[in-house]
Amino acid sequence: MIDLHNHILRYMLPIHSRVDPDPEVAVRMAEIAAADGTRIIASTPHFRESHMAENWLPRIQEALANLNALLQERGIALEVVSGAEVEMSDMLPETARKGWLPTLGDGKHVLIELPIVTYAAYAEQVLFELALQGYTPVIAHFGRMAAASTTAVEPEALVERGYKLQVNCESLKGKRGPDVQNLARRLIRDDLASCLGSDAHNADDKPPGLSACQRDVDKLGGRGNFERLSWESPLRIIGR
Ligand SMILES: [Fe+2]
Repeated sequence: MIDLHNHILRYMLPIHSRVDPDPEVAVRMAEIAAADGTRIIASTPHFRESHMAENWLPRIQEALANLNALLQERGIALEVVSGAEVEMSDMLPETARKGWLPTLGDGKHVLIELPIVTYAAYAEQVLFELALQGYTPVIAHFGRMAAASTTAVEPEALVERGYKLQVNCESLKGKRGPDVQNLARRLIRDDLASCLGSDAHNADDKPPGLSACQRDVDKLGGRGNFERLSWESPLRIIGR
């Protein structure tokens, strides 16, 4: 499986002021993911406006190289590829033009988190400008948009424009409440989703793992759907 949304890198890189780097936590997360059947993780640390500067992408890549070396040293059969959970911002088109935008793996897909509290009016313009530059936006945990105070954005409209939608397994399992669960289920059932993520933040209460939602994904989307959303489609997204 490929986990396309995972915060494992926060333990290798002080990108969040609230989290202390601790490579052993990253190793534990990797062990949990590998034991669950995950072969590739796209590491997606939060990438906020304060990170939209020249020095951040190299820092992410260096932390990633350190993490992969550590996993190899420990004999954990898991590959971590680059990425970020990029905050929606009107700075994004310029950040992309400068080549500072982290993409998922080696391709030109960018995981983007839409604002959930208020849907920003400029968001669709920003997505459009990124697409013009050759990037494909992948909207992070779209199921959680059910909790947004406005429903300005329809998933069908985004997919029609060629954007992709990522669904969190925890949303499918109902851990974010019934509204989020219903939207996540609809995305799978109506073939609007392109990939899955654990959105893991640690090894304890938000651990990695996708296999828990296999049954739901196959039941809602038909047999073979989990294979498509957890391997075939994300493999293309990371440029393999
Ligand atoms: Fe996340």
